[in-house]
Amino acid sequence: MKVLVVGNGGREAALAWKIAQSSEVTEVWVTPHHPATCRLNAKIRSASFSLYELILREQFQLAVVGPEIPLSEGVADELRAAGIPTVGPSAAAARLETSKVFAKDVMRTAGVATARSAEFTDVREAEAFVQMTDWTGVVVKADGPAQGKGVVVAQDKTEAIAALRGFFDGSWLGMKIPRVLLEEKIQGPELSVFALCHGLNYVNLGSARDHKRLKNDDLGPNTGGMGTVAPLTDISVAEQSFIDGMFEDVLFEMHKRGTPFTGFLFAGLMRTEGGLKVLEFNVRLGDPETQVLLPLLQDDLVPWLKGCASGEFPEGAPSFSNETAVHVVMAAPGYPGTEGQQVLLGHTVSWQAFPQEKMIVFPAGLTEKSGEWVSRGGRILGVTALGASVEEARRRALGVIKEVAFTGAQWRTDIGGAV
Ligand code: AMP
Ligand code: GLY
Repeated sequence: MKVLVVGNGGREAALAWKIAQSSEVTEVWVTPHHPATCRLNAKIRSASFSLYELILREQFQLAVVGPEIPLSEGVADELRAAGIPTVGPSAAAARLETSKVFAKDVMRTAGVATARSAEFTDVREAEAFVQMTDWTGVVVKADGPAQGKGVVVAQDKTEAIAALRGFFDGSWLGMKIPRVLLEEKIQGPELSVFALCHGLNYVNLGSARDHKRLKNDDLGPNTGGMGTVAPLTDISVAEQSFIDGMFEDVLFEMHKRGTPFTGFLFAGLMRTEGGLKVLEFNVRLGDPETQVLLPLLQDDLVPWLKGCASGEFPEGAPSFSNETAVHVVMAAPGYPGTEGQQVLLGHTVSWQAFPQEKMIVFPAGLTEKSGEWVSRGGRILGVTALGASVEEARRRALGVIKEVAFTGAQWRTDIGGAV
């Protein structure tokens, strides 16, 4: 069968790599064009066709949509309308990620534990609320797609007011935000959990932790994620039952609203003194969480993806290795803030030099132009390594990173440190 993967970052490289290992699969096409991904497996193809040209040219039997933007624009609906079984929510269901107010409303109605909140369409009312509230702190969230820049965890009331004014008047995101969610600031370690869902059914895909800051010890600016570790070994039985109940309740609520959820559901949680609370939902796999989850999956992913698209999951649960996976991201010089700026990297990456099971180099914002490797200015690539412990996996990953490093590249050496 031929499988289509929509998206051209590190997450989609990991999806294509895993899908290509299936004996059922003859070709995996990645779009937009991402030639570096083709190095991972001879079955992986990519070309400069548009999505529409590609689905007219090839007969796909399955599609997976990676990023939230095409999902929020209805690409999964369009692929299904074209008769292609698709893993990815409808645009209506993708609002669980793109609208903070919608997600909060679903959580509230479904009875899922989350931080207290209030929503505002009027800047003066929002300011008055911030001045009067006795919350321990305020988090300001823009309601709408904001490409990771829509959340401000304010240090104090002055910063909260500056953020909400900036969202409403357009100076913060370059566009006016009509609705803002204010949330109580809660505290504790964060963890992420993943499920593959179809309507009321789902299978757990495990847990992971991202490291968002650029530098070791969680210093430096926020990024899209500098590395991940999986699985998290400190999730208690009671917490796992909270997680299972949370997925069930949210799926039931989405079904009840007439917007059933099909695809990957990623919940960002915080372990507070009062137990786990949900911070956010993403309607896709994480990047770079996917790069640790999929190398740990021992099963063929394709029957699970087909099950998600059709509603008929295989019997039982997906089986995972009992090893630990660490993924270390190598970012462009100057990142973050250099996204979209092309950087010539000067040497080639020898993908084949590493044993593919324990150490995998996943290309991300890396492309080939006239025989040269060029970075898109963001996360260039990442290395996943497996090991019996976090330390072993990290040591292996860092060994590979040093071999493939480009001049000026940035990476962290402490990924997985705080598991
Ligand atoms: P979100 O996109 O809603 O997950 O927010 C991005 C990040 O902001 C989260 O990963 C947290 O680190 C932080 N955050 C969001 N909501 C809260 C909250 N209510 N309290 C404390 N931190 C938060
Ligand atoms: N790594 C965080 C995300 O994919 O949203």
